[in-house]
Amino acid sequence: MSKADTLFGLDGEVVVVTGGYGLIGSALGKGLAELGGKLAVIEPAPTEEKTRAVFGSAENIAVFAADVTKRDTLEAALGDIKKRWGAPTGLVANAALDSPPGAPVEENGPFETYPEASWDKVMDVNVKGVFLCAQVFGAAMAQAGRGSIVNVASIYGTVSPDQSLYEYRRQRGETFYKPVAYSASKSALYNLTRYLAVYWGPKNVRANTVTFAGVFNNQDPRFLEAYAKKIPLRRGRPDLANMAEANDYLGAVAFLLSPASGYMTGADLCVDGGFTAI
Ligand SMILES: NC(=O)c1ccc[n+]([C@@H]2O[C@H](COP(=O)([O-])OP(=O)(O)OC[C@H]3O[C@@H](n4cnc5c(N)ncnc54)[C@H](O)[C@@H]3O)[C@@H](O)[C@H]2O)c1
Repeated sequence: MSKADTLFGLDGEVVVVTGGYGLIGSALGKGLAELGGKLAVIEPAPTEEKTRAVFGSAENIAVFAADVTKRDTLEAALGDIKKRWGAPTGLVANAALDSPPGAPVEENGPFETYPEASWDKVMDVNVKGVFLCAQVFGAAMAQAGRGSIVNVASIYGTVSPDQSLYEYRRQRGETFYKPVAYSASKSALYNLTRYLAVYWGPKNVRANTVTFAGVFNNQDPRFLEAYAKKIPLRRGRPDLANMAEANDYLGAVAFLLSPASGYMTGADLCVDGGFTAI
């Protein structure tokens, strides 16, 4: 085995990735499996068709049905993962809601009238969901005496959304503001993670956050133009308008799951093209 494989490889690791059908989760799932991990993807309503469409037929990726807001479903998934591959050694808490599907129009209206129900839904998945995943999968790691938890945060949990990025929507007559709950939920993850790092340090379970910036997803050209100006890093990829692509986050997550980061806990690894450096 090469030095690089010893440091960064994931052979023998059983990694849980929540929200693995999504834009970033699917890239992480595929990439971590290619690095040798056994990938247990968590989704609330998986189907064989969808799994084949997203992951093909990789033998070391399997999707387990669970809702991160429902502890009993996570416990059932843990039981199934243990039967298939043994206890998890890694957790990537990636599932999150930004604006929940079917959100009322007020959701993107002024802060003063942001609906309480939307706040609850976002907090439920983005904060309670991460807490419950740590309780269920982290506890299994603590019991086994080793593990690495990676909680997925966001630039919008480090700094406020810049509402001027959405000016073009207001100019075309919408009352659009990037809502508050997502930001508050993502910033909660930093101290939840530090708590876990301290609590489970003695059990050799590490916990860190990754902070991601926006991923290119064919956004409105006026948004892309404004966003590009906020990213110092120029990579010669005009097709991405200075945004990230989902695969840009694989290296940071793989590093935090691998022996290369073995002495790192309670920290944040920020991968944002310099967005929060300004
Ligand atoms: N996309 C971006 O630009 C961006 C930027 C910064 C941070 N992030 C963070 O990266 C992570 C992934 O984002 P994404 O854009 O890939 O999201 P996405 O919306 O594409 O995917 C989210 C996935 O989570 C799943 N999910 C939702 N609720 C769930 C629940 N209750 N239980 C289990 N699974 C559930 C969904 O089914 C979906 O597959 C999130 O934590 C997000 O906050 C994304």
